Order: sequence, then structure tokens, then C-alpha cells
Amino acid sequence: METIRWNGDSVTILDQRVLPHEELYHTYVRYWDVVLAIKEMEIRGAPAIGIAAAMGIALASRNILAEGAKDLKGFKDAVGTAIQHFEKSRPTAVNLFNAAARMKKLLDSGSNAEQISQGMEAEAVAMLREDIESNRAMGRNGSRYLSDGDVVMTHCNAGALATGGYGTALGVIRAAVEENKKIQVYACETRPLLQGARLTSWELHRDGIPVTLITDNMAGYFMKKGVIKKVIVGADRIAANGDTANKIGTYSHAVLAKEHRIPFYVAAPVTTLDPATGTGDDIVIEERSVDEVAFFLSQQIAPEGITIHNPAFDVTPARYITAIITDRGVVEHPEGKGIGELLK
Ligand code: MRU
Repeated sequence: METIRWNGDSVTILDQRVLPHEELYHTYVRYWDVVLAIKEMEIRGAPAIGIAAAMGIALASRNILAEGAKDLKGFKDAVGTAIQHFEKSRPTAVNLFNAAARMKKLLDSGSNAEQISQGMEAEAVAMLREDIESNRAMGRNGSRYLSDGDVVMTHCNAGALATGGYGTALGVIRAAVEENKKIQVYACETRPLLQGARLTSWELHRDGIPVTLITDNMAGYFMKKGVIKKVIVGADRIAANGDTANKIGTYSHAVLAKEHRIPFYVAAPVTTLDPATGTGDDIVIEERSVDEVAFFLSQQIAPEGITIHNPAFDVTPARYITAIITDRGVVEHPEGKGIGELLK
């Protein structure tokens, strides 16, 4: 199973909207289709959308060259506009903006359109490789926090599907399993788009890692009963002080975990750290279509004319986080410390 692939002249993306029923791949030759794939969550998860944006921008540079950009300035302007489209596709995950910044640097410093385009392709492919390596490193750094016999709860999908491969939170779980620890995962279904039910349980089940699906509102019940021993989630953006944006519902799990004295871990690559954002209050939270809440499996479940909110993420303050596990190291009890030491 591959989340995303660069083919030299096109990008192939696994359509996560139709999993687990169907394993459907789309191959795109036009960059705009990659922008739409991100917006419509055909590909999702912070690291994966960073890689998709990088590949989409590389594709844009090829499209613009093929259309015969009139000169270097014309090429740079057109690719710059394409980058802006990617930056507007989803606002919360910082990985997308970091990927765009890497591409912008190549664009600004280059003096030959063909060479810039080749450099962008190489950079996008490198980002995919680096992401898988960083997930493996995160697994090595984080597996010691999981013990043989643990029941570990996770939310949304921070697995192979949300990344270039292996996963962040699920990467830590996979690493512990590779060390022969018996780990059972409780996957929260993750309303409204059910990434936990559709994606996390699918990829863990495929790997033979025992997974139990629960609805989001069952988390407190299983914590109180003493079933859940640890919680581990991914992140979309981690502010300088350690406050962490992740899929809506994460904050509630963190508060419940603290009440029940259950360690709460965040696993994310350093590309998810955002030193330019001081605290979680400064993180832009994506508001998605209310239809995602009003409909369930294409069936309308709420009356017309009522107010509905659909924030896609929430922010967990650093004080609820036992440790932030990254590819470059771990910050235990990030409250008051922040992420600074990981970026040195
Ligand atoms: O809206 P999504 O599905 O893109 O949200 C994904 C999450 O919130 C993940 O938990 C997060 O990106 C970490 S993925 C390694």
C-alpha cells in the first residue's frame, strides 16, 4: 500500500475517501487536480499533504514549462501562483507550508526554468523519502514509552496513510510491535469523516496489529474502567510552547487522560513543529463544510435550517501532554519547555 507516488511526469494518490471499501488510485498529470485532492481529502494527514503539495508544485513547474512559459520571470510568476493555490488548500497542518517554503526557495534561487523544475522533482521525491525515514526514527525514539501488554488509544489516523509510510503515532506503535511487545490499539472512530474507523483500523488490521474500534464518546468509559493504558496521537501543528493542534476530539481525550492519570503522547516529525507560532491560540483552525456533520454516509441526519459547526482540529495545551516524540528526540513534559531544544 502506497499513499502517494511520483512517476516522473505525474502523481499517483491513493483515494482515502473510499477506503476501506475500495483501494482506488488516481494518477494526475495536472497540478490543479492535486490541489483538489488535498482540499477534498483524497489525501490527508499532515505529513502526507506536505508531500502531496511538494509533488503538486513539481508537477506545476512541469505543466508550466510544457505550456511554454515565455521567460524565466513568466515561469517564476506562474509557479509562484501555483504554490499559493497549494498554500490555500488546507490551513492547519504546517507541513504543507514547510513543503511550499522548500519549493519557493528553489524557485527564488534558480536562474534556469528547466533546472528549477528538475530541482523541484528531486526535492519532492527527497521529502517522501525523508518522511519515511523520520517516521522510523520517531518509532525508535518513542517505542520505549509503550510496554508489553499495553492497550493504547489513538484518534484519527496518524499512520502510513497520513504520511509517506509507516506513520507517526502508528509508527511508534509499529516500532513497539517490531520489538515483540504485545500492543492492542483502541481506535476512536473520529467523527465526522471517520478516519479512525475507515483508515486506522484498516491499516492496523492489515498489519495484524490487534485493533478495537470505539466511538469517540466511549473514550472516557474505557479510561475509567482502566482498559486504556496510554494514549498516542499525531499532530498537525505544534506551537513553540508545545500546544498541539490535531484532529477535533484530541483535546477532549487529553483532558480525560489527565483525569485518569493516563500518559498522553504526541508523535510528530520536526516538520510539524512551528517555532513561528507562539501558542496554540495562534493556530488557524480549518472550518470544513457543515455537510460533513449534517450527513452520515450520504444520508442526511440533521434537520434543515439548524446551525452546525465543523472545526476540523482542536488544540491540546502542552500541560496535558506527557511527551512530544519526534524524529530528532523527545521532549518530556513540554509545558514550560516548548519545542526549542528539538530545533537546535
Ligand atoms: O483532517 P485530516 O484527516 O488531515 O487530519 C489528520 C490528523 O489530524 C492527524 O492526526 C494528523 O495530521 C497527524 S498525521 C500523521
